[in-house]
Amino acid sequence: MIDLSTQLGPLSLRSPLVAACGTVGSVVDFAAVGALEAYGAAVAKSVSDVPWQGRPVPRLATTDVGMLNGIGIQNPGVSAWLAEVGPGLDKVGVPVWGSAVGHSIEAFAAVAGTLTTTSVAAIEVNLSCPNLEGGGMFALDADASAAVVAAVRSTTRLPIGAKLSPNSEDIVAVARAVQEAGADWVVLTNTVWGAGIDIETRRPQLSGVVGGYSGRAIKPIAVRCVWEVATALPELPIVGCGGVANGGDVVEYLLAGASAVAMGTVHFAEPRAGRRVLAELDDYCARHDIAAVQDLIGGAIPWQ
Ligand SMILES: Cc1cc2nc3c(=O)[nH]c(=O)nc-3n(C[C@H](O)[C@H](O)[C@H](O)COP(=O)(O)O)c2cc1C
Repeated sequence: MIDLSTQLGPLSLRSPLVAACGTVGSVVDFAAVGALEAYGAAVAKSVSDVPWQGRPVPRLATTDVGMLNGIGIQNPGVSAWLAEVGPGLDKVGVPVWGSAVGHSIEAFAAVAGTLTTTSVAAIEVNLSCPNLEGGGMFALDADASAAVVAAVRSTTRLPIGAKLSPNSEDIVAVARAVQEAGADWVVLTNTVWGAGIDIETRRPQLSGVVGGYSGRAIKPIAVRCVWEVATALPELPIVGCGGVANGGDVVEYLLAGASAVAMGTVHFAEPRAGRRVLAELDDYCARHDIAAVQDLIGGAIPWQ
């Protein structure tokens, strides 16, 4: 029996797999179609202090490899979220993390305060949405990211993960800043800025033109972020995220230094992917005489 458990600072997970934010709905609705028992945690869609309309259609597009999204975090606002999603959180059979997003430090803190009144097991602070009006992103600025995390930290006793961006010039600096501000772990990473144009209609594929690129092709970018942060900040737990589609991808992120691994885009084609991916991880461990997945964390062997 392979020990699949892992640890993110104060939080214990029964499985190293995390269902990534925005790809499993509110989690409560996804429970009907997904294989949530495979995950150590599932992250509900990001929620803001007041309702956000999101961007006009088109806001999803396929690409040669992966997808583009420019949804703009459409959500009903945290009060409506509380009424709609809150009562179902306990019944999904997997710890649910809330995800807070906002245009200001105060807005993040307000959402975190409300999430704390629910049974979420942790709060992911989404500093890295690529689809905010005006193009701003907290995760590009270490000081701004730290200010948001500090405000959330002073609002809640729940464990906090800070979700960072691969578009950051210096992701280690941002990770260090949020760690010092009280983040218990970082999620590396959110989507990569991307765009596409339909050559028949000559229209951008997304109404907002630039959106978030996700799926297989971004894995090397996110693995690079994990490697850099794990090397520079070995005490800071990491959730690797980007392009995961099989058990080997999970092993790769763990070897790079992640303690858990989130799966996103794969759910659109295969809602129950978690079950298969966990079986493949288990199989890898059996073939390599690995008794516990935690033994894989940071296990890559650098070239001399
Ligand atoms: C349609 C869609 C919606 C997303 N919505 C959110 C969101 O609301 N908050 C967030 O932090 N990340 C969001 N993400 C980013 C994913 O959680 C994940 O970080 C990213 O897609 C990279 O992982 P992947 O390549 O496995 O999809 C979204 C991704 C997609 C594809």
